[in-house]
Amino acid sequence: MKRVINFAAGPAAIPLEVLEQAQAEMLDWKGTGCSVMEVSHRGKEYDALHHEAMDLFREIAGMGPEWKILFTTGGASTQFLMLPMNYLGDGKEADYISTGNWSKAAIKEAKRFGTITMPANMELEGGVFHAIPKQSELKFNPKAEYVHYTTNNTIMGTEFHYTPDAHGKPLIADMSSDIFSRPMEFNKHSMIYAGAQKNLGPSGVTVVAIKEDFLAKAKEDLPTMMSYKIFNEHDSMFNTPPCFSIYILDLVLQWIKKNGGLEERQRVNDAKQKLIYATVDGSGGFYKGSAEKDSRSWMNIDFKLPSPELDEKFVKDAKAAGIVQTKGYRTMGGIRLSCYNAVSLKDVETTVAFMKDFQQKNG
Ligand SMILES: Cc1ncc(COP(=O)(O)O)c(C=O)c1O
Repeated sequence: MKRVINFAAGPAAIPLEVLEQAQAEMLDWKGTGCSVMEVSHRGKEYDALHHEAMDLFREIAGMGPEWKILFTTGGASTQFLMLPMNYLGDGKEADYISTGNWSKAAIKEAKRFGTITMPANMELEGGVFHAIPKQSELKFNPKAEYVHYTTNNTIMGTEFHYTPDAHGKPLIADMSSDIFSRPMEFNKHSMIYAGAQKNLGPSGVTVVAIKEDFLAKAKEDLPTMMSYKIFNEHDSMFNTPPCFSIYILDLVLQWIKKNGGLEERQRVNDAKQKLIYATVDGSGGFYKGSAEKDSRSWMNIDFKLPSPELDEKFVKDAKAAGIVQTKGYRTMGGIRLSCYNAVSLKDVETTVAFMKDFQQKNG
């Protein structure tokens, strides 16, 4: 067996210990004689797992009992429509800070339900985004029902390094690509959501954490599977939940807790990002970072080589060295190293050595 160093942007690397535990339990989970995929979601074993994952999520985030944890399906993309469906309509307005493709996708859906205003739109000519706005640049709409932003821009390689002050409006964050990468000010938000397939486990489950005062304001009369209230009232088991994805989510949460929680994630992820950006900045222009320096993402590190041919050679040579999924997003080109939690500091040290060697041979 040969495991590679995996810089995939999502679905992404999962901690080896988690995969090994899932493998060991595949045929006989908790003495049931079945895998977790083969038992009833109404049974006591699955029920315990489901609630353990909700409690662990709350515990790791430092959220109190006022936070309700929902397990939804349809990815973060379905939250782009569920959120406005639950809170807009009847001429209501909402603020969306636009910092990348995923913010734009959220805005597109929200416009189906209400008037959308932008406290800042960071899009440059050609659909490019390089930077995160400063707090002083945000111009809020006093009539907005809530303020939505994307904490980390997976494609653009930019990330908020502060929590926007929304002047008392409910603050909502799409945290799909940096959740649990470090401690965050979760309690300054009214709702956060994240597709699991980057830092939390496999695709198939999307975690929504919503404070009960904000939940109370959600609409009542909605299609059942679109209603936050129904999800909460039924503990996210109105219908069959994505049991296997939630099982892996639970194992990943246990792994985070066992390995020092979010403080340790911060220490490791900070060391990782510093090593890669120092290599980019110290390359004399051979590697050029895409994002503005103070907006750089810790999770998705985008850079370009002197030509598209060298970008391509980098991807090919890296793969031969056991370092995979380094190709940049199709509209961005270049290289993207997605350094989620399951990518270790050692993986990054090996990669940085490869980057230096590649420059020496091709620079
Ligand atoms: C920040 C962000 N939001 C939303 C999405 C869409 O997520 P999903 O594919 O789960 O719908 C992604 C996917 O990469 C993302 O990175």
